Amino acid sequence: MKSMIPALVIGLACLSASVSSARADAARGKEIYTKVGCYQCHGYDGQGGNTGPRLAPEPMELDALKTFIRNASATAMPPYSANLVSDGDVADIHAYLASVRKPPAGKDIPLLNNP
Ligand code: HEC
Repeated sequence: MKSMIPALVIGLACLSASVSSARADAARGKEIYTKVGCYQCHGYDGQGGNTGPRLAPEPMELDALKTFIRNASATAMPPYSANLVSDGDVADIHAYLASVRKPPAGKDIPLLNNP
């Protein structure tokens, strides 16, 4: 009986992973992010640039992201209504932005540390 516990834990972990990925899909989020043009101002990996601030790898909370893109001022960034980007789409975009790999710290890049 004791030997079944790890298998049960792993099984539950897989189950919860598949449930959460059913709610927000980073790969789909990347497609939408590209399709609706977020990349044009924020970069393909949400790295930011002259045209828009960095969004990844640590995006704002999902609710804040949703509120922001629905109510963008339109002077700097166009607002995205739910007809264009549904709440589910925003959740997927959020999952994508959160999945972007963190860049290494400057001290860990040898070229930057050569005297
Ligand atoms: C035409 C250029 C443009 C496009 C397209 C665009 N943005 Fe932006 N975005 C901006 C600019 C410029 C700002 C900064 C000015 C501001 O805060 O209003 C901004 C700000 C943001 C912020 C706030 C960042 C912060 O830390 O304050 C978020 C989040 C964001 N954009 C997400 C998105 C998403 C998601 C999309 C696609 C659905 C998108 N943007 C499309 C230009 C753009």
